[in-house]
Amino acid sequence: MKKLLDLISEEMEKGFEKAGYAKELGRVTLSNRPDLCEYQCNGAMAGAKQYKKAPIAIAGDVAAVLADSAVFSEVDAVAPGFLNLKVKERFLRDYLQEMQEHEKFGLELPVKSKKVVLDYGGANIAKSLHVGHLRPAIIGESIKRILRYCGQEVIGDVHLGDWGLQMGLVITELKERQPDLVYFDESYTGEYPAEAPFTIGELEEIYPTASKRSKEDADYKAKAMEVTYKMQNGVRGYEALFGHIRRVSIEDLKKNYAGLNVEFDLWKGESDVNGLIPSMVDYMKREGYAHESEGALVVDVKEETDNKEIPPCMVLKSDGAALYNTTDLATIMDRMENIEPDEIIYVTDKRQELYFEQIFRCARKTKLVKPETELVWLGHGTMNGRDGKPFKTRDGGVKRLENLIGETNEEMYRKITENREMPEEEARETARLIGLAAIKYGDLSNQASKDYVFDMEKFSSFEGDTGPYILYTIVRIKSILNKYKEQGGSLDGLKVQDAGSESEKALMMQLGAFQATIEGACAEIAPHKICAYIYDLANAFNKFYHETRILAEENEEKKAGLIALLVLTKDILETCIDMLGFSAPERM
Ligand code: ARG
Repeated sequence: MKKLLDLISEEMEKGFEKAGYAKELGRVTLSNRPDLCEYQCNGAMAGAKQYKKAPIAIAGDVAAVLADSAVFSEVDAVAPGFLNLKVKERFLRDYLQEMQEHEKFGLELPVKSKKVVLDYGGANIAKSLHVGHLRPAIIGESIKRILRYCGQEVIGDVHLGDWGLQMGLVITELKERQPDLVYFDESYTGEYPAEAPFTIGELEEIYPTASKRSKEDADYKAKAMEVTYKMQNGVRGYEALFGHIRRVSIEDLKKNYAGLNVEFDLWKGESDVNGLIPSMVDYMKREGYAHESEGALVVDVKEETDNKEIPPCMVLKSDGAALYNTTDLATIMDRMENIEPDEIIYVTDKRQELYFEQIFRCARKTKLVKPETELVWLGHGTMNGRDGKPFKTRDGGVKRLENLIGETNEEMYRKITENREMPEEEARETARLIGLAAIKYGDLSNQASKDYVFDMEKFSSFEGDTGPYILYTIVRIKSILNKYKEQGGSLDGLKVQDAGSESEKALMMQLGAFQATIEGACAEIAPHKICAYIYDLANAFNKFYHETRILAEENEEKKAGLIALLVLTKDILETCIDMLGFSAPERM
C-alpha cells in the first residue's frame, strides 16, 4: 500500500499541476500547527521566485482547483502563502479499511530480501552477564525483529568472547585448587568426563577470583598466559576444560538472554574461527596486504582523506598470537564463505568505533568481503546510573544483569499488588512482563548512540513516555474488547467508520502513519522511532478514549466502528512492541 502521506502529497501535486505549477511543489508534511490544520504544504512559498508571483496568489490558485478534492475537506490559502489542509473523513476511513485488510497493515516489502548477519550481544564466556551487556542485547534484538518484519532475512549471531585470557585464568585457578583433576595429567590419553568439574555458580566465582589474583601476582598471570597458549594450541586436557567452560556458560547465557526475550540463531564464538586464522594470515601475506611492524603483523588502513590518525590493523601480535582483531576478521571470512550475507551489522559499545573502522577497512582492503557487501557498525552509548556515571552496584561493583532484572520485577510486583488483588502466579508473571517493558522501552526510546540514565522510578511509571504506559494502554483496550464480547459483540469483520470527532480523527491519522514509521525505523536502523510513534499513538488513543462513549454507545453500527478502531489500535501497538522485544499482559 502507498503511504498515507504519499497519497495526500500526490493529490496536492495534482493540484499544483492543474493550476499550472510544477508538481514537485506539492509535497505535504504533517502540520506543525495542529490547532490550525492537519497537514500543510509550503510549495507556494517555494514557487514564488520561479513564477514571479506572490506566494498567496499561487496558494489561492491551488486551493481553487482542489475545491472538490476527494482527499481534502479543507484547503486554506493563508498569508503569506501557506496551504493549510484537512483531509476528508471518508478518505481516511478508506485508507484504514485497506490497512485492516492487508497483511502487515499494508507495509510494502522489498521485492528481493537482503540477507543480513546481525552480530550483537557479545557476551563473554566464563563471566556472568552484567549491565554492560544489556544494551547490545536489547538494541540488537529489536533491530533483528524490525528488519525481519520489513522482509529481510536476518541471522543473529551472539559472537561470544571465548578466546582470550579469561579461559586461561579459569583453568589456572582450577589447577591451583584441584591439581589432581585428570585434565592436568599430561600423560593421560583416555576420554575425559562428560560432566564439567564445576557448576555455573562455581565458575562465576572462579573467574573473578582468578582475575583479581592475576592483577596482583605476575607469576600467576604468566601461568595463565601459558595455559591460554596451550589451550589454543591443542593441549588436550585444556581443550577439554575449555569445552566444559563453554558449555556450562552457554547454557546459563541462554537462560539469561531468554529472560530478556533475546534469542540468537547462531551461538558462534571467537574460538570457532581459530582454524581459519593460519590460512587467512597466509593469504594476507601472500597478496602483500600484511607486513611486519615491530615484530607484529599489520595491515595499513589509513587513507589520504583521513583527518585523524587511523593506526594499522594488527593481525598477529609480535609473539604470533591472535587477538580480538584476528578473530573478527576470520569471522568475516567465515561468514562470507558460509552465509554469503549482503550485509553485516554489528551492535557494540560506541567505544569500539575506531576498532571497527580498522576492521572494516582491513576487510575491504584485503578483499575478505565483496565490494558490494555492506558493513555497518552501530555504536551504542553507555547506560548510566542516576549520578550520571556508568551504572554500578551500591558498593561500586559491576551490577549483574540478573540482579537488575530481579530488582525491577520486584518493584513492578509491589506496584501491581498494591493496586489490586491478583493470584500470586499471575502477579509474578505480569510483573515480569511489565518489568521487561520498563527496561527495554527505557533503553530503546533513546537514540542508541546516546548515553542514558537508568532511572527505575521513571521507567516503571504507568504514566509518561514509558513502557508500562504503553502496556497499560494495550491492557485498557483489551479490557474494553473483552467487555464488548461479554455483551455479545463479535470482533470479526468489523470495519472502521468515518471519524465522528476530532480526537477520533487524530487517532486515525496516527494509525495511518504506521507504514512510514516502520519504513523509517528499518531504513535508519532506529528502534527509537518506533517508541516515539507508539507513545504518540497511545496518547492519541487515550485522548479519544476519555472523550468518547464506546461501550455505552447506543447506535450499534457506530459502536462496531469504534470497536474496529480499538482492534486496529491494539494490533498496531502489539505489533510495534513485538518489534521492540516485549509483550503485554492480559491485565495489570
Ligand atoms: N565480546 C566483546 C566485548 O565484550 C563484544 C563483541 C562484539 N562483536 C564483535 N564482533 N567484535 O567487548
